Amino acid sequence: MQKNPFILEPFKSKEYFCDRERETEELIHNITNGRNTTLISPRRLGKTGLIFRVFEEIDQRHLPFETIYADISDTLSLREFIKVLSDAVVAKLKKPQRISAFFQSLKSVRPVLELDPMTGSPQLSFTFANTSQMQDTLTDVLTYLESYPKMIVVAIDEFQQIREYEGINMEAILRKHIQNLHNVRFIFCGSKKHTMTDMFTNAKKPFYESTSFCYLAKLQVNVYASFIRKHFESAGKSIDDESLDYILKWTRIHTYYTQRLCNEVFSLSSDKVNSAVVMTSIQAILNSERERFLEIRQLITRSQWKMLGAIAKEGSVSQITSSGFLSKYGISSGPAALRNIQALTEKELVMVTNDESGTSYSVYNVFLSRYLEKINF
Ligand SMILES: Nc1ncnc2c1ncn2[C@@H]1O[C@H](COP(=O)(O)OP(=O)(O)OP(=O)(O)O)[C@@H](O)[C@H]1O
Ligand SMILES: [Mg+2]
Repeated sequence: MQKNPFILEPFKSKEYFCDRERETEELIHNITNGRNTTLISPRRLGKTGLIFRVFEEIDQRHLPFETIYADISDTLSLREFIKVLSDAVVAKLKKPQRISAFFQSLKSVRPVLELDPMTGSPQLSFTFANTSQMQDTLTDVLTYLESYPKMIVVAIDEFQQIREYEGINMEAILRKHIQNLHNVRFIFCGSKKHTMTDMFTNAKKPFYESTSFCYLAKLQVNVYASFIRKHFESAGKSIDDESLDYILKWTRIHTYYTQRLCNEVFSLSSDKVNSAVVMTSIQAILNSERERFLEIRQLITRSQWKMLGAIAKEGSVSQITSSGFLSKYGISSGPAALRNIQALTEKELVMVTNDESGTSYSVYNVFLSRYLEKINF
């Protein structure tokens, strides 16, 4: 069986990762020059992949940094934040004597080390008596990192999540600590642009102007096209220009969706990729996603679903309250359209794009968009 080169996980190795050379250099430049970075992009465009790409590059260039990755998307409290960060530290340390040194540095609490029965990876469990003990433990963890014999890069993925922690101002707590760290560089990564921008550019917020910004955009079409062609050809499959163009247009060069379609096309094709295989692959994907789309329909109101369909049929809409748009899709009024768009944006079903030409709206999930555009409302 041929190995499918279109991977669906954030990162495997440089070979399967398209481009991002400029962004990789920019992040490394920030790290080696003592700057923290805020990395922002819409979902599923490649932020997490880029972090691992940067970590790989640090290794390959033998740059004197240890790298730590903590995904805090599932955390809802300082307690959970400490656990995720500590697990990430332990996962990196590997050697028992280092783990033991880390344990000894946790002076405020005595965690228990267990192995995850599913993955076999080490996991810490903490029991805290109160918030102040938690805060002391956070200090202990960060003090350990500061005293580590090598410089450290900590990437905190889905950083906006700290705004969900109840009862504490996590931004203020973290900022206070971070400004005293000289041995640790941070990458704060997130997809909620509005929240992330507010955290780092609002003068009233603790992290105000404390980092360099890196906005990840879509891959360049010609660069992505060459990458896709190269991988088909190295597996002995030729792909015609028309099919390649169609794949990129249909998926709007939104990385995850492009990878997923290429992965399907690869799996269903023999030595020639043509439009027929691409169409069959698209159908296979939409069929497999259909149940999920119907679940989404259950979770929103009828008028929100209709609005989503209208946006899908347009591809992208900038004049959401214009009479032309409202009457074309039977939307009752401008305020109703605005209410729906707000609800759909909050649910991450609609993506808002702001650029030089203004604000526009599109369906976030490209497959859902393609499914909706074919439905009669
Ligand atoms: N440069 C790339 N080359 C090839 N595939 C990529 C690249 N970047 C991302 N991908 C693909 O896109 C998918 C989404 O990437 P990733 O998980 O890094 O995005 P993300 O921006 O972190 O998304 P989220 O905000 O949902 O966490 C990956 O699983 C991978 O399949
Ligand atoms: Mg991610």
